[in-house]
Amino acid sequence: MSTLSFKDCGAAVLISHCKSLGVDSVVQDSSGNAGNSVAAYCAKAGIQCEIFVPEGTSPKKINMIEAHGAKANVIKGSRDHCADVCRAKVENEGVYYANHVYNPFFYEGTKTYIYETFEQLGRIPKHIVVPVGNGTLFIGVIKGLEHLLESGVIDEMPTIIALQSEYCDPLLQAVKKGQKFAEQVEIKPTIAEGIAIGQPMRASEILAYAEKYTIRFVHAPEDKILAARNALAKKGIYCEHTTAANYAAYLHYCELYGAAVEDCLITMCGAGLKSEH
Ligand SMILES: Cc1ncc(COP(=O)(O)O)c(C=O)c1O
Repeated sequence: MSTLSFKDCGAAVLISHCKSLGVDSVVQDSSGNAGNSVAAYCAKAGIQCEIFVPEGTSPKKINMIEAHGAKANVIKGSRDHCADVCRAKVENEGVYYANHVYNPFFYEGTKTYIYETFEQLGRIPKHIVVPVGNGTLFIGVIKGLEHLLESGVIDEMPTIIALQSEYCDPLLQAVKKGQKFAEQVEIKPTIAEGIAIGQPMRASEILAYAEKYTIRFVHAPEDKILAARNALAKKGIYCEHTTAANYAAYLHYCELYGAAVEDCLITMCGAGLKSEH
């Protein structure tokens, strides 16, 4: 995680792909971390880069995007509106959309989380807690596990525990209602900025996986995120609020479904240094 979040895994592959195509300029919208990763790998590849982030994005994430030589546009309004503004630029100016949600090369990168886990443990844990905003890690995890399964490296899918913010949970609500599509939900500001996605573009794909593998969605309770962050820091892990949400959701899951959630991999996918609020 060279820029301190898992988005680096996807950006490394996506920007290498752009370079191989001869792309010389890209735009991207992001809650901050994906923008950082794309900006960093573009700097390395010599590709011009412009990132759109919503207002309220941690200033350190914006500073880092600019430090990599990219232009950072801070857009008033929600994360979803910020994506609309970026897409309008793509449509009007024809510039390459180095988007982590749409571009399949990004998922080739996020799959490596699973390969690295297997490489380091020699097995896949029984449970894996995965955050879901747009689902770029979630989909990478599923694709990586399916690959291991099809190759005969593992015998069964682990139990995936998917989480969303208590204040922004369109996929959790859809799973609860047994729907194959996500509806617009009421959103409130959350300190878990990385998962504050009201309209996930791959909602039906995520919901189809949730059905196929009986994946439970659980809330990260907003009032438990800071305590989770402090508890992790006391264990030696200084993570960002969105990542502390993973631990808060794990504890909530244990309360809901019994304390015996053993052998559980809780994804620590964003470091704390650039996310002060
Ligand atoms: C640290 C962190 N965790 C989780 C997520 C959620 O990723 P996705 O929106 O791809 O589900 C993000 C997204 O920015 C993030 O930065």
